[in-house]
Amino acid sequence: MSAPAPRKILVTSALPYANGSLHLGHLLEQVQTDIWVRFQKSRGHHCLYVCADDAHGTAIMLTAEKLGITPEEQIAAVQQEHMRDSARFLIGFDNYHTTHSEENRIWCEAIYKRLKDNNHIASRPITQAYDPEKQLFLADRFIKGTCPRCKTADQYGDNCEACGATYSPMDLIDPVSAISGAKPIEKDSIHFFFKLPEFAAMLQEWLASDTLQPQVANKLREWTDAGLQEWDISRDAPYFGFEIPGEPGKYFYVWLDAPIGYIASFQNYCDRTGHPFDEYWQHGGATELYHFIGKDIINFHGLFWPAMLHSANLRAPTAIYAHGFLTVNGTKMSKSRGTFIKASTYLEHLDAQYLRYYFAAKLSSSVDDIDLNLEDFVQRVNADVVGKVVNIASRCAGFLRNGFDNTLSEPLRGTGDGGLLHRRWRGDRRSV
Ligand code: MSP
Ligand code: ZN
Repeated sequence: MSAPAPRKILVTSALPYANGSLHLGHLLEQVQTDIWVRFQKSRGHHCLYVCADDAHGTAIMLTAEKLGITPEEQIAAVQQEHMRDSARFLIGFDNYHTTHSEENRIWCEAIYKRLKDNNHIASRPITQAYDPEKQLFLADRFIKGTCPRCKTADQYGDNCEACGATYSPMDLIDPVSAISGAKPIEKDSIHFFFKLPEFAAMLQEWLASDTLQPQVANKLREWTDAGLQEWDISRDAPYFGFEIPGEPGKYFYVWLDAPIGYIASFQNYCDRTGHPFDEYWQHGGATELYHFIGKDIINFHGLFWPAMLHSANLRAPTAIYAHGFLTVNGTKMSKSRGTFIKASTYLEHLDAQYLRYYFAAKLSSSVDDIDLNLEDFVQRVNADVVGKVVNIASRCAGFLRNGFDNTLSEPLRGTGDGGLLHRRWRGDRRSV
């Protein structure tokens, strides 16, 4: 019997914002993806893992401004740091790119053109809060004020942390711009929209197709059942991103160009290596596409993205795997409680393998949150990694010393382990 042909698989994890350091939540996702990719590779499949920094948006523009550097300098520095931290956690990306790249610009423009040619783009004026001092439209989280319901001061423009009320920023009592402190005014401007409602039938079919985890499909069905809204895909200058062709002063919203960044990173890989590109993104290629993401971004990946791909006549993902959030000792990571753990902070104290093992032991196909309980972590690493795995190696070392002149056999070809035991003994952890 001949072995089945190797599968051709392309895998992504979500693109971290170039606005701050990687933390252990990011690493939960990258470790999950990395383990899955290593597994496919070990089965002899051709599997590629690409990712990138998500480099656009108002937040990054404002961070750079605060630091007195250009957004380009900011995103270049963060990308270096992200790549370094992921590498130290032994994440085996085949390519790590940035959404602020020529490949991404070209793909964004091409996809937008297809959407537009298919009459899937609408435009109309909308009214938004505007900072007259900074001359900037303000997203809800850049407006603060007193909650109109419970009167708690210093609440963000979309919901109240004290009483849970949701409202529009202009309902706040005494609203101020969180950027300049100025009182926002209302201002009109033209925005561009992706006509998501036209994809209702296609998306219902997609949600019924068992492509998604049941919990994720159910959640997304709440959106389709409530009636899909057109999706606002443009932002006004000043904005750090790609200008929309033919629309001076209008930029693609960061969430339009971010998933396209998956394609762009893969394009960059193919250009670099000569690997074939088209069969991965066109219909009908014998390839598979998987996205690993967190549960907070399932609407972008489970609704907007497949609809965009459909309009652009590109293939849909084979599956999307969403995971829950990492909590530390049972609570959301928090800077003030000291439970917000950056990847680099962890590495100052502990070996990446311990955490990789702990995540592997706790991850599953569910979207429930995953807790890093520090006592349980110590106990499990000591019991399993040190007590079992290292213990086996240490006992074997005794046999080798006493009876085999400290020498292992040649790699056991044909047994399916691909020389694994041999390589592991040499201490080359990365190849295991
Ligand atoms: N830039 C977007 C993703 C664009 S993908 C086309 C983004 N960036 S992020 O930096 O906020 O998050 C990157 C990934 O990390 C997301 O999948 C997100 O769910 C995940 N996580 C961020 N915090 C997390 C935890 N605390 N726990 C687990 N995953 C978390 O969203
Ligand atoms: Zn309130």
